[in-house]
Amino acid sequence: MIQTIHSPVIELIPASQFSLAQLTAIYNQTRVDYLIPMPMNAARLAEYIQTYDVDLDASLVACQEDQLLGVAMLGVRQERAWITRLGVLPGTRRHGAGRALMEGLLAQAEKRNLHFSMLEVIKNNTPAHQLFLKLGFYEVGELLVLRRAPIIPPPDPVIADVQRLERPEALDLIAHDRGTQPWTNQSESLNNLQDVSGLRVTLPDGSRGWLVYQRQKFTLTRFAYKTEAGSPAVVAYAFLSHLHFQYPRLDTYLENIQVNDPHLPAFYRMGYIEAFGRIEMWRGAPPPGLLGGREKPSN
Ligand SMILES: CC(C)(COP(=O)(O)OP(=O)(O)OC[C@H]1O[C@@H](n2cnc3c(N)ncnc32)[C@H](O)[C@@H]1OP(=O)(O)O)[C@@H](O)C(=O)NCCC(=O)NCCS
Repeated sequence: MIQTIHSPVIELIPASQFSLAQLTAIYNQTRVDYLIPMPMNAARLAEYIQTYDVDLDASLVACQEDQLLGVAMLGVRQERAWITRLGVLPGTRRHGAGRALMEGLLAQAEKRNLHFSMLEVIKNNTPAHQLFLKLGFYEVGELLVLRRAPIIPPPDPVIADVQRLERPEALDLIAHDRGTQPWTNQSESLNNLQDVSGLRVTLPDGSRGWLVYQRQKFTLTRFAYKTEAGSPAVVAYAFLSHLHFQYPRLDTYLENIQVNDPHLPAFYRMGYIEAFGRIEMWRGAPPPGLLGGREKPSN
């Protein structure tokens, strides 16, 4: 049975009633004029849904008299929800579909007893930013999307003791003490992937830390890292130098690195550049267990 939620004119239908090909087509139509082109295909959408715990029963497609208006998806994890893939077809914007989709997702989250929601919005996306503010989301920080093209030959690796981390050990490390990460970088995302491993570096002066990453065919991505002793910029330069020495031909693509991350100088020194910036927004109070070092801003 198709479950529908009625607003005066816009009908919201669970995304699970649509095929992945249909959802991909709707999504791509909503993004034809997007600030940063991000077209999807059905295989990539399937991977996205699996990696980020998107619940298609809680995700919605907006329709009006058989016309598709837009789509929005909800990620669901313990005590938190994530708003993603929101888009309304260009010709039908400013008629309430975006708001209806967002209110529908928030209602789905509430139904699952999730009172805390997270999202990211690309800087200068005024329509979406305004919509999120209107619905009670508040800004918590800025995030960077970083890219690095291969530099051949790679820079010399820093002198350090280097130990490879296999997937189970890598996943065990990232599960603890990393604060509240943006959804894409939470340990659940890496847990949902197979090709995850890492490396641990110890420098001669005792500085040490680790890096966990996903190695795709042509790309290194989804970094999680920590400095356990010493300067983050020094430790990060050491683990990056070993990583890029090991994989000199791979591109690197990192999403949602916090703008005040003390490891950032090492990324710039290693040839990373900023592709674009996002604003992270939350709604509701983060559950105490999730906060881990990041405070809800007072204003
Ligand atoms: C963001 C988006 C989903 C909004 O959808 P929409 O159907 O046009 O939104 P609504 O008509 O429901 O508008 C709701 C509120 O959003 C804000 N808003 C929407 N478009 C706006 C614009 N062009 N400028 C400023 N505010 C805007 C307003 O606060 C509006 O309320 P109002 O109409 O009472 O002023 C749509 O612009 C879109 O698909 N953009 C491209 C994809 C995208 O940016 N997705 C979000 C990624 S984070």
